[in-house]
This record gives sequence, C-alpha cells and structure tokens, in this order.
Amino acid sequence: MKTSLLLLLLTLAVCLNAQYGSCHLSSSCSYPPSKWCSSLDSAIQCGVLKQCLESNFTRSRETADSVQVGLYYESLCPGCRLFLTRVLFPTWVLLNDIMSVTLVPYGNAQEKPDGQKYVFECQHGKDECLGNMIETCLLNMTKMAFPVIFCMESSSNVIKSAKSCLELYSPELSWDSVMSCVNGDVGNGLMHQNALKTKALDPAHQYVPWITVDGKHTEDLQDKAMSSLFTLVCNMYKGSKPEACGGDQRHFKSYSYNE
Ligand SMILES: *[C@@H]1O[C@H](CO)[C@@H](O)[C@H](O)[C@H]1NC(C)=O
Ligand SMILES: *[C@@H]1O[C@H](CO)[C@@H](O)[C@H](O)[C@H]1NC(C)=O
Repeated sequence: MKTSLLLLLLTLAVCLNAQYGSCHLSSSCSYPPSKWCSSLDSAIQCGVLKQCLESNFTRSRETADSVQVGLYYESLCPGCRLFLTRVLFPTWVLLNDIMSVTLVPYGNAQEKPDGQKYVFECQHGKDECLGNMIETCLLNMTKMAFPVIFCMESSSNVIKSAKSCLELYSPELSWDSVMSCVNGDVGNGLMHQNALKTKALDPAHQYVPWITVDGKHTEDLQDKAMSSLFTLVCNMYKGSKPEACGGDQRHFKSYSYNE
C-alpha cells in the first residue's frame, strides 16, 4: 500500500491523462490521494487510472476461482460500447482480483476463406473490421489491452483514437508493430480464432453484446450482467468477498447500462 501510494504521489507532478482533456490534477481532483484508486471516477478525475491499474490497488487474493466474464462484441456497435465502457471496465477496475474478462471482438461479422487467409465483413462496415482487428492485435500484444480498448471505445472516434490510447496506456508497444499485426497474417489468423470462438458459442449468439459468465449464457445472466454486473460478480465469487463487495454499494449503481 505504501509503495503504491508513493507511486501515485510521484505521478502528481505529471499530467498523464490527456485523453480526458487538460490536466485535471490540481483543479478538479476532489479526492484525497488515499482515495484516488478507490473508483474509476476518482482515478480518471485525478489522472491516475494507468497508475492505479499498474499498482494492483485491488490486491490479488486468488483464494477461489475468479468469475470469468466473456464479452462477444463488435467495435462500433453502440450497445457494445456502452456496456464495455460504462459497466464492464469500471467493474473490472474495482473487482479485477476476483474477476477475469475475455474480450472477443467479432460479433456478427462474417468470414470467407480466400486462399490461405480469410476475408471479413462487419455489420458496421470496414471501419468496424479495422477496429475489431486493432483490438484483437492489442489483446495479443499487451497486458494493458483492456485499458487501451476502453480508451478507444469511450472516445468519439474509435479508430482515430487508437494510436493515442496506445501511447497513453501501453507506451512501450509501438503503433507500427500493432499495425503490422493488423495488416498481416498474424492478425488475420487471430481474427479467424475469434470467428471460431464466436461460432462455438452454445447457445449461438443472437445479438451483441453477448455476455457469458463462467462460460455460460442465459437470458437471466445477460440481464443481470447488463443491469448490475458488479453485484453479479460479487455474488458469484465463491471465495471471501473483497472489501469492494461489502458495505455501501450505492456508489456502484452508476455503473449500470440502463442509467
Ligand atoms: C502488479 O502485478 C503484476 C502481475 O501480477 C506484476 O508484474 C507487477 O509488478 C505488479 N505491480 C506492482 C506495482 O506491484
Ligand atoms: C498471440 O498470437 C500468437 C500467434 O497466433 C500466439 O502464438 C500467442 O500465443 C498469442 N499470445 C497471446 C498472449 O495471446
């Protein structure tokens, strides 16, 4: 705890969160340093989201199997973007020590074999295929893929923001190497794997976002995940509940898809 606090204090002088406009640190960060990592809002407002994620502020417990949440989605589908940015990512920030997230960008896309490779067609056009491919390559190339994808999906232009989102959350990975995955055989093969995973869903997906919890999809799980994923994950976790699950949960209701 002391180390992570020090890490956070060290970042005070630097304006890191360019994505959310000018430096918010002194002007609109209304939280004391000890609370900066206590919610997504405070981490973003105080410009320390990246540091909070890196400092493992929710301590790893691993006393029981984490709850596995799968999201089958498309990069430009509005409902997918809302769920990913307003529900899934904020919940994961708080509960990442008891939940793991698998993102499968493909959704309602179609593939056709073309020689050794595949050609993809996406519901929302070529840009969506590009967004899916960038996100797929990120998932293969960096442990910070989820924050980068969150950044892209919460920006007004998913594709145009990708490079600056990468620089913000995963600066050690070069944009050129991501794009060579995107335009090359590796990306093509990874997207084919996404197609296979999506086609293997049982029951088959009927819409996006399509959510699985511990590998299962039911209407009830989907509804609960959409309306109160935080509560669902806390309830399903079989180990001792982390602090975030107990106490006052009013605060977390704002991470609901329907609000
Ligand atoms: C956070 O956890 C990861 C993997 O468990 C580890 O590699 C990293 O060093 C940790 N970061 C800090 C600041 O403790
Ligand atoms: C990335 O993709 C390559 C090639 O398909 C695969 O061998 C490797 O295991 C993947 N790595 C991760 C972390 O997914």
